[in-house]
Amino acid sequence: IKQKIGIVGMAVMGRNLALNIANNNYTVSIYNRSSEKTKKIILKHPKKNLHPFYTIKDFVNSLIKPRCILIMVQAGLATDNVIQSIIPYLDKKDMLIDGGNAFYKDTIRRNYELSNQGFYFIGAGISGGSEGALKGPAIMPGGNKKAYDLIQPMLYTISAKSKGEPCVNYIGPDGSGHYVKMVHNGIEYSDMQLIAEVYFVLKKLLKIGNQELSKIFDEWNKGELNSYLIEITKDILIKKDDCGNFLLDYVLDQASNKGTGKWTSQSALDLNEPLSLITESVFFRYLSSLKLQRKIASTVLKGPNINYIINNSHKLIEQIRQSLYLSKIISYAQGFSQLNTASNKYQWNLKFKNIAKIFRSGCIIRASFLQKIIEAYTDNTNLINILLHPYFKDISNKYQLSLRKIVSIAVENGIPIPALSAAIAYFDSYRSNLLPSNLIQAQRDYFGSHMYQRIDKDGLFHTNWRNERTI
Ligand code: 6PG
Repeated sequence: IKQKIGIVGMAVMGRNLALNIANNNYTVSIYNRSSEKTKKIILKHPKKNLHPFYTIKDFVNSLIKPRCILIMVQAGLATDNVIQSIIPYLDKKDMLIDGGNAFYKDTIRRNYELSNQGFYFIGAGISGGSEGALKGPAIMPGGNKKAYDLIQPMLYTISAKSKGEPCVNYIGPDGSGHYVKMVHNGIEYSDMQLIAEVYFVLKKLLKIGNQELSKIFDEWNKGELNSYLIEITKDILIKKDDCGNFLLDYVLDQASNKGTGKWTSQSALDLNEPLSLITESVFFRYLSSLKLQRKIASTVLKGPNINYIINNSHKLIEQIRQSLYLSKIISYAQGFSQLNTASNKYQWNLKFKNIAKIFRSGCIIRASFLQKIIEAYTDNTNLINILLHPYFKDISNKYQLSLRKIVSIAVENGIPIPALSAAIAYFDSYRSNLLPSNLIQAQRDYFGSHMYQRIDKDGLFHTNWRNERTI
């Protein structure tokens, strides 16, 4: 008997996807470099659909042709090594799917190399963590459309569903699936950063304890902010350790990362995209990791004394909620704008409505408000910035005063809020018909003869600014 799909890499994501697929009545061959892991999985989950293999050759030969192999190993060299080890046993038209958090340029390269050898390659972003992998992830597959069509039924079955629709859709050619997953992760960074900032403002300025904070997040989760990340924050706040203390208060304040947020920002810089919230979120993780320096600096550098706000906190909490929602919207506006620019550059023809649909369930950034993004792109497929859509425009105009207020209070009290401040700075810059960039252009021309344009005449100009003489 031959199996329908093979999975290489039995770390938590690979294992749980294998279980998910097997639970959905597909037969699955599994392989891991160290056989111990494979044996353990089979011992723990003795399923008739799950078949272990201990050499790549046996593993590949166990599959129905054309073969379909899902690679779930570490992004980078490990993925290339696995691909190289599989290739000798493949036939033309066999399909490899990379389900890791691959760098999209690697996916473009692999797609090119494998297609040239007659194989199909799909780079699929898979989101939802270990639980999502097991119960239904959001999937962002990019690559050859014909190959995608072959596996679509299986992806539909194993993915999360939202309003009955599977959270998977063909994204576009070559690296587009992994690019969209990368931006998803970037947005994940800014969502988390914004939540962390408002948590800190509530805690430091309003002196609200974890129990109460959890209730506030629970309340917020019932409204516009309804999302997975708000929900888990509510739980995290009140989790106690073995000594009965709130565990969160004992977690070291140094945030790690595996690079996908950084890639999103690097791409933004390459594409001339003002992706300020995600980038601030990446920087904040870096800054948080300078714990030793921060420790020293905290004894050397001074800030203001905090003016605690104890009374009338209800109004402020609502303003904080509004600030969080508006900042989140602004971050998505930036993220989707970047997707648009990348889509044009790489000719991916991304469908933003479909992407927002995929994000609705299964993935880490799942949130009710994605429905609003879907509606915005339904109304206008060519929307250049979601802030310009009537719903988001109205929310922005309504909530901007709150965001201003919260940013001001936090700054006055020395509470760091880089993403919230980036949100209002972007908002004010984006809505300005006139910016002081005229001065920057004049300075560039002054010291470097870089030329400038005028608002009243066509052409490029250079001025000898010292003598006020135009050449
Ligand atoms: C997901 C997550 C997942 C993972 C990130 C974490 O969509 O399921 O984004 O991919 O949690 O890689 O990234 P950092 O370690 O960089 O925070």
